Amino acid sequence: MTDVILAKAKQGRELSRGELVALLSITDAAELQALYDCAYFLKEQYVGKIAYFRGIIECSNLCIKDCYYCGIRKSNTNVERFQMDEDEIFKEAVWAYEAEYGSCVIQSGERRDEEYIAMIERVVGRIKEATKGRLGITLSLGEQTEETYRRWRAVGAHRYLLRIETTNPELYAKIHPKDHSLEERKECLASLRRTGYQVGTGVMMGLPGQTMEDLANDILFLKEIDIDMVGMGPYIPHSGTPMGKEIPPYTDEQKRVALQLGLKMIAVTRIVLKDINIAAATALQALEYTGREQGLRCGANVIMPNVTETEYRPNYTLYDNKPCTDENSSMCRGCLSGRIEGIGETVGFNEWGDSPHFHKRTKTVSD
Ligand code: 5AD
Ligand code: FES
Repeated sequence: MTDVILAKAKQGRELSRGELVALLSITDAAELQALYDCAYFLKEQYVGKIAYFRGIIECSNLCIKDCYYCGIRKSNTNVERFQMDEDEIFKEAVWAYEAEYGSCVIQSGERRDEEYIAMIERVVGRIKEATKGRLGITLSLGEQTEETYRRWRAVGAHRYLLRIETTNPELYAKIHPKDHSLEERKECLASLRRTGYQVGTGVMMGLPGQTMEDLANDILFLKEIDIDMVGMGPYIPHSGTPMGKEIPPYTDEQKRVALQLGLKMIAVTRIVLKDINIAAATALQALEYTGREQGLRCGANVIMPNVTETEYRPNYTLYDNKPCTDENSSMCRGCLSGRIEGIGETVGFNEWGDSPHFHKRTKTVSD
């Protein structure tokens, strides 16, 4: 049955919601392989066999939010909080540039105070200037006002990642406190689009109570808002969170199932959205050592090597078992480059690596 759907997908034809559910529900090994091969075929055709690196700087774990799944939620008192200063962030961005990464991502817990907004504004401007605009700058700093997004855009940030987490309102309400709003999140995504960013979003898969229909709807949402980039990953319990306390650490079998679901979502997203950028989330590697390259084999084309100073890494634990917390940036560079070569792909060094979708959408070259 799914071979008919995959044949349709290979011709670039549109699939129905029911067909997406059928693909996401595959468990048979041969059918799974056919799904992954189809996604890889489309990836090759639309974005090529190049993996782009985005050096991720996790610059602070201070957070005003209290999401029930996240290890750095504000109520988790077992976290040593840290905040890098401007010079530290700048230094790591320059490291990424010198490592020929082409672009960086500045990520942190959410803060909306003027001191923070202004600090980000200054550091983005400094990075832009020091690298003569050659290092792409992505921000992943949560929900902000349109004015804040505009200020950061004006000094040179050009991409923004803000995951929707799930588009099912009931599920969203279950995994967040009452004052966290799905509608506000959607409005932020609209603000980001209006402000001229390349916009990325994504979801967690394998949340308690989440169905294949939910995930198919999530993919259709990504399509509806005409997204340029996707970053999504498997949900992994963190023992210090309300959700993690209800779920014992994953068994090997649960890890296998969670990884498989993560890979299926990447594959089906590639099949539906074709020419966008899709990240192989670090969380895939928390489930299996080769998780991220498996993500590339299933349709992802972006990897985010950690460029955070090793001393801060253990304090940015969003989920248990987060990889690379003992390593340094050079080790991750060597390790990931090797893995990518190992699957017969090349790394897009020194390139921004915008998605073809973004250029098609705007029909201009971004600054
Ligand atoms: N498991 C997987 N991903 C998580 N994130 C936060 N907590 C977890 C978890 N326990 C993801 C969220 C957030 C991103 C920065 O990290 O999707 O948007
Ligand atoms: Fe960090 Fe392999 S990617 S050590």
